[in-house]
Amino acid sequence: EQNIFILGIESSCDDTSASVIHNGRVLSNVVASQKIHEEYGGVVPELASRAHQQNIVPVVHQAIKKAGITKGQLNAVAFTRGPGLMGSLLVGTSFAKSLAYGLNIPLIDVNHMQAHILAHFIEEDGFEKPPFPFLAMTISGGHTQIVRVDDYFEMTVIGETIDDAVGEAFDKSGKILGLGYPAGPEIDKRSKLGNPKAFPFPKPKVGELNFSFSGLKTAILYFIQKEEKANPNFVAENLNDICASIQYTIIGILIDKLKKATKETGIKHIAIGGGVSANSGIRKALKDGEQKFGWTTYIPKFEYTTDNAGMIAIVGYLKYLEGDFAEQDVMASARLKI
Ligand code: KG4
Ligand code: ZN
Repeated sequence: EQNIFILGIESSCDDTSASVIHNGRVLSNVVASQKIHEEYGGVVPELASRAHQQNIVPVVHQAIKKAGITKGQLNAVAFTRGPGLMGSLLVGTSFAKSLAYGLNIPLIDVNHMQAHILAHFIEEDGFEKPPFPFLAMTISGGHTQIVRVDDYFEMTVIGETIDDAVGEAFDKSGKILGLGYPAGPEIDKRSKLGNPKAFPFPKPKVGELNFSFSGLKTAILYFIQKEEKANPNFVAENLNDICASIQYTIIGILIDKLKKATKETGIKHIAIGGGVSANSGIRKALKDGEQKFGWTTYIPKFEYTTDNAGMIAIVGYLKYLEGDFAEQDVMASARLKI
């Protein structure tokens, strides 16, 4: 009879998070989001590490308290080793090492990109786990990847962005339109009220299963500048249509590559993760694809799609079962690969 408690710690970007998992089920998942970046219109790395430094002890303390256990009951400490912002990763890494050392329990290093995918294996009522092999598409403000997943730790990146992430495409487009940061949720909201075919934007020509989003941002910028010369109120008068057209273009890019990926691999199970998976248009397109293309889609509970420590703790649990521990001299790695 196993009775395993794992503490997970996530600090790769701008969210400080800690979670306790008991045999694969989340007992607590505390996230302290950093509001400070909003006024800069993007994450400022130096400010992020300082905020992690401030938040990490209270966030971990709260996660253990909410879980209803004492730190003496923990079996291991799992932490995000990378990829991410170095200064941010160092805070979580150093803290996790010290805690594991102090409690004299194993330390487990976790790859953040694997964690986004393995979040699907958190025990959660009403959510089905994808069967191996499946394709995982991780879409967020920092990542855009399609990964072939043959087993928990047998993953191959088969496509990724060569420039901006898809969330950045939303956020940077929103910035051009004068929307707040992050703009993704507002573009989503306005898209529901606009015509997606009002303004056709070009889709990038990128080979294989890779993505490119920086050209879209430039195309939108030039388009707006041109239209505003004729009508200075162009954006204000057409905001919903512009948002709907941008979202439609982005969804088209993602779905095209997913179609290609299912065709090339013959795998029809698709698991989605990352903050952009909250997008209602993407969710609808994925669902529609079940009928149209015969695939099955899996989207985890929302709190496990954005950056959170629950996904770090579940990887910690899976590695714990395999006895796959880290040494105390393990180092954070900003560019860690899957
Ligand atoms: O996973 P996440 O919370 O943080 C990381 O980037 O790792 O993702 C945040 C990104 C932002 O770019 C935000 O604009 C985007 O997810 N986002 C959305 C929506 N909700 C969040 N993009 C489009 N539609 C949404 N509903
Ligand atoms: Zn992430």
